Amino acid sequence: MVWLLHHPERMVIPALADYPAHLHIDLLPDHQRSGHGRRLMEAFLDALTRKGVPGVHLGTLTVNTPARAFYDRLGFHEIDVPDRGPLTYLGLHL
Ligand SMILES: CC(C)(COP(=O)(O)OP(=O)(O)OC[C@H]1O[C@@H](n2cnc3c(N)ncnc32)[C@H](O)[C@@H]1OP(=O)(O)O)[C@@H](O)C(=O)NCCC(=O)NCCS
Repeated sequence: MVWLLHHPERMVIPALADYPAHLHIDLLPDHQRSGHGRRLMEAFLDALTRKGVPGVHLGTLTVNTPARAFYDRLGFHEIDVPDRGPLTYLGLHL
């Protein structure tokens, strides 16, 4: 993980240029499905919008269909990224 922090070039994917912000969200199981995820995302997306950030992207394991359902509810759309491996890339214009 330390090596990855110092070699971020792997995250510079041309298809993501319109979505410069990047996010991760992971709630403990006992706190899922209670609206916390939506509230955290709304706070984060509001902060990005206030900073003038034009878009945000994330990568999720394609097998993580519960997370995909969550992002779909928040308005994210799929971004076509070549050689994406086990990931699906999602984006949102702000
Ligand atoms: C994915 C995650 C962030 C969602 O947060 P959450 O607090 O559970 O979701 P919320 O309760 O805020 O739900 C927000 C909306 O998404 C929908 N949603 C959330 N999980 C869903 C699921 N499994 N299936 C269908 N819809 C789902 C809710 O119905 C809700 O819709 P609404 O607000 O329009 O009524 C959280 O469950 C989590 O951390 N999961 C485990 C880690 C993970 O997979 N993280 C993502 C890695 S890419």
